[in-house]
Amino acid sequence: MTMFRGAVLDTPESPFDGGGLRASGDEGLVVRDGVIVARGAFGALRREHPDEDVVTLDGGLLLPGFVDTHVHFPQVRVIGGIGLPLLDWLEQRALPEEGRLADPGYAAGVAADFVGGLVGAGTTSAMVFGAHFPAAVDALFGAVAAVGLRVTSGLVVSDRNLPADLLTTPERAHDESIALARRWHGAGRARYAVTPRFSLSCSDALLAACAAVLDDVPGAFVTSHVNENLEEIEQVTQLFGLSTYLASYDQRGLVGRRTVLAHNVHPDDDELETLAARDASIAHCPTSNAALGSGPFPLARHVDHGVRVALGSDVGAGSGFSLLKEGLQAYFTQQQLGTDGYPLSPAHLLYLATTAGAAALDLPDVGHLSAGQRFDAVWVRPAPGSTYDVALRHASGPEDALGTTFTLGAAADVAGVWIDGDPVAVTVR
Ligand code: GUN
Ligand code: ZN
Repeated sequence: MTMFRGAVLDTPESPFDGGGLRASGDEGLVVRDGVIVARGAFGALRREHPDEDVVTLDGGLLLPGFVDTHVHFPQVRVIGGIGLPLLDWLEQRALPEEGRLADPGYAAGVAADFVGGLVGAGTTSAMVFGAHFPAAVDALFGAVAAVGLRVTSGLVVSDRNLPADLLTTPERAHDESIALARRWHGAGRARYAVTPRFSLSCSDALLAACAAVLDDVPGAFVTSHVNENLEEIEQVTQLFGLSTYLASYDQRGLVGRRTVLAHNVHPDDDELETLAARDASIAHCPTSNAALGSGPFPLARHVDHGVRVALGSDVGAGSGFSLLKEGLQAYFTQQQLGTDGYPLSPAHLLYLATTAGAAALDLPDVGHLSAGQRFDAVWVRPAPGSTYDVALRHASGPEDALGTTFTLGAAADVAGVWIDGDPVAVTVR
């Protein structure tokens, strides 16, 4: 057993639903076999557990591990290609790199870079958009297992409107997906996600093959993109002869409680109603939406309709792995929307980056640091003398300290990461 001591902040109850920030400047957490077995003010808890080893996290904040609900493994090396809208960015920046993952050696290198990036940013769970090649998806799951991350991922499938090297057929997509799911779904912390890239690159027959995989793999997830860009939406609704983009997935039974769809920047009310009725989740990707000029995310409409929302970094259209930055950009976006924006507090940002993500990925045992939960955590501690350090020391209270952390904290400030109570190697500065 180990006792962790530090300033602990989490959001067990949703601030979108009357909950708030739970904070203690000197909290103790007793962890046994990866589970938090006791939690309370350090002094009192220490008297009850006088013999445990104490890990003192001096300075900074201990938060639940971040949950990234949308991040592309093959795109880690193309982060930063700014200046293009979605369809041009895909053609010029993302897809040429994704083709290189046909080489398993190259894919293994990318997988290592990707896993290092996730852990280095304090992410402990993620819905990962995989690659178009089965061997590359194996490389990802292998790299993730070596570190212990909680990852849900799968083979990305497309059969039209992409470069030929990225295309498959419904039959091949089905068989390769099933083979990967047999290898990885439920192996350790891994789970399988059926992953049509987006309806623009998928025929209805391919989406039907995806539905067949979902039927054959109990507990599998679905992940894809929806309503990101106006030109994309126009093309999808024309190609499918449907009035909404979401219907292309929904008519094949691909929208459910274990579905995470990225973006949804331009939904109509019918789509929001369908998402709420299906209990599906939206991965809001704030820096990606800003970088690609996709538009401002209508968070208030999602909240009003009762649609579940969490955060995604959307690397590589997004600007990095840090969910602190995504939270800050989410806040900026809502501010810029004025009276149409949702007024986000630091507690909302933490909830979106942790508890909401755990709910979206159906991980009830993580996302906050209550007794009974598994100890997935990140310690964010500023470099001494940095502006973040100065501002944190002068914070007026815990919510202010959290706002300072979302504003000034970065991957470089991640001083420790634990999954199931085990420390995960982070490059020590
Ligand atoms: N839509 C289809 N593929 C992608 C992708 O790789 N990134 C983003 N942001 N949107 C997509
Ligand atoms: Zn994406």
